[in-house]
Amino acid sequence: MTVIPFPGPSGPGSTAEGTPLLRLQNVESAYGPIKAIRGVSLQVQRGEIAAVLGSNGAGKTTILKTISGIIDPRRGSIEFQGAHITAADPAAIVRRGLVHVPEGREVFALLSVRDNLLMGAYTRSDADAVARDLELVYAYFPILKERAAQDAGLLSGGQQQMLAISRALMANPELILLDEPSLGLSPKLTKEIFEIVVRINRERGTTILLVEQNANMALNASDYGYVLENGRIVMEDSCERLREKDDIKEFYLGMKDAGVRGERRWKKKKNWR
Ligand SMILES: Nc1ncnc2c1ncn2[C@@H]1O[C@H](COP(=O)(O)OP(=O)(O)OP(=O)(O)O)[C@@H](O)[C@H]1O
Ligand SMILES: [Mg+2]
Repeated sequence: MTVIPFPGPSGPGSTAEGTPLLRLQNVESAYGPIKAIRGVSLQVQRGEIAAVLGSNGAGKTTILKTISGIIDPRRGSIEFQGAHITAADPAAIVRRGLVHVPEGREVFALLSVRDNLLMGAYTRSDADAVARDLELVYAYFPILKERAAQDAGLLSGGQQQMLAISRALMANPELILLDEPSLGLSPKLTKEIFEIVVRINRERGTTILLVEQNANMALNASDYGYVLENGRIVMEDSCERLREKDDIKEFYLGMKDAGVRGERRWKKKKNWR
């Protein structure tokens, strides 16, 4: 495998060995009267891929929106690189090196692929480094180079997911929050996207927190996992150990009673696009 030397951020703000890069303590967020997440505590270590697994409505997206400052939590605290970012301005959080790839990608449909990528670098003033990162992103996803001048809205769903991840990389982030990268993609494309996410983590050293309904892909790609049900974390462990747990096999991987794939298989609930 060729190693792409993507220069990750370093220097001020780097945390000491052992301090989690991201720490949530007792976070609660609500939409009016609806409490979407309650007492959520989790940690992401520098350099790892962490996953939050959960079914529809469990609160996965709410966790990511709360971290990136889109939603202010009612309670609890969020620390990134040792600094409090609880309810901070989303743009300030991006400047600190924490970037969110939203559910459903949300690319700028009427801008070209290249301009979408440059939008990802809007917080940066180092033009030469931005130009280098553009080439490095194209090395991860050559199709984006081929389509650089085309409107992003004309890309396929999978290509738009590649663009959304690449746009996040253009901010030169320390941590990427990834909301359901598999959503609406075929199993083959999902596998390809996950492989590149793992490469970005290994080669560039980018820490990743992803949320997924596709437990199989998430558990294989990640180092550490949290299971979210009804807004609460009900289980956490290394992904290696989570893969062996009976309730995970039964409910999240659908391996128990292989012939009786009943309604509990939440993976069936989401439609392909
Ligand atoms: N804007 C909103 N207004 C009111 N309720 C909301 C809003 N967004 C989410 N919710 C509710 O908050 C809860 C958690 O939603 P969230 O989107 O975080 O779940 P999720 O785990 O990301 O689900 P999915 O897998 O379907 O994306 C759900 O009960 C949902 O109905
Ligand atoms: Mg969601």
